[in-house]
Amino acid sequence: MLDKINSLKTEIEGLTAANLDEVEVLRIKYLSKKGLVPALMNDFRSVPADQKRTVGQAINDLKTMATDKINGLREALSSAADDFSGVDLTRTPSPVKLGTRHPLSIVREEIVSIFRRLGFNIAEGPEIEDDWHVFSALNFAEDHPARDMQDTFFINRTPDVLLRTHTSSVQSRVMETTQPPIRIICPGRVYRNEAISARAHCFFHQVEALYVDKDVTFADLRQTLLYFAREMFGSDTKIRLRPSFFPFTEPSAEMDISCNLCGGKGCSFCKHTGWVEILGCGMVDPNVLDACGIDSKVYSGFALGMGVERITNLKYQVKDLRMFSENDTRFLEEFTAAH
Ligand code: DAH
Repeated sequence: MLDKINSLKTEIEGLTAANLDEVEVLRIKYLSKKGLVPALMNDFRSVPADQKRTVGQAINDLKTMATDKINGLREALSSAADDFSGVDLTRTPSPVKLGTRHPLSIVREEIVSIFRRLGFNIAEGPEIEDDWHVFSALNFAEDHPARDMQDTFFINRTPDVLLRTHTSSVQSRVMETTQPPIRIICPGRVYRNEAISARAHCFFHQVEALYVDKDVTFADLRQTLLYFAREMFGSDTKIRLRPSFFPFTEPSAEMDISCNLCGGKGCSFCKHTGWVEILGCGMVDPNVLDACGIDSKVYSGFALGMGVERITNLKYQVKDLRMFSENDTRFLEEFTAAH
């Protein structure tokens, strides 16, 4: 019995542990209720009476020694955890990664804030729309190609449910429910059934503006556009309007700005023309006003619409449209300084 006690003693004296978990394993092995040291008490019962004193004493000593040893191991490891020697407390901590605003959000907010300074208010409409608000109310002829399946995502044919292909649908919704003066700016996502490539995507973003009141003229439109272009791209920016066609405006125009990369001298970005196209606009067609319940004999208005991706590309030269929806943080972090 004494031999057994002594060999356990030597074993325990030699114990080591690398971490607190290992100390716990040792405590369970030697000191817990079913551990090796308490187990000696079972053998103790069969020790002859004349040896009980010596053996009992030895077991008690072993128990004290084992408890001290294991507590000692635990303390050594816990104090090591609080030991900062060898750690440079003056070192700059690793930076906490903050999220960044998406480039499209940054640009959208910039566009919106320019128009807000002119007294326009934000208006929003649903992305899931119907034919009336996206096409018919906006004077699209029954057989207009934009209604085609190839362009529009139809959810249902009858009754017609579709994904809006432009934010001009917000125009018709607001005009239906509000009498002039109307001055709204409508940011939002739009959908078109296009094959995804570097230059086209099946969804993108637009901002639409609409101003309807008495005596609104093309001169008001032109001055608004000039103000917008200069606020957005710098005070040296020039604009030019080219005649164009949209079903919902008459006359219609497309606006170019002097290329902000080469300052209008001509570069590969502007295809050596010195100009880049940025938006469509025009005077609201009287048919649209009437369709939406606004008297076209009393009121007139202008509208304009632009692609947010397009403006963002002009500002930041993002070459591939797909970057905007891939959520690659290496790309998104490029815009940390932009806001
Ligand atoms: N809705 C047109 C598009 O998606 C953009 C546009 C052009 C909007 C002219 C307008 C406008 O309000 O007057 O291409």
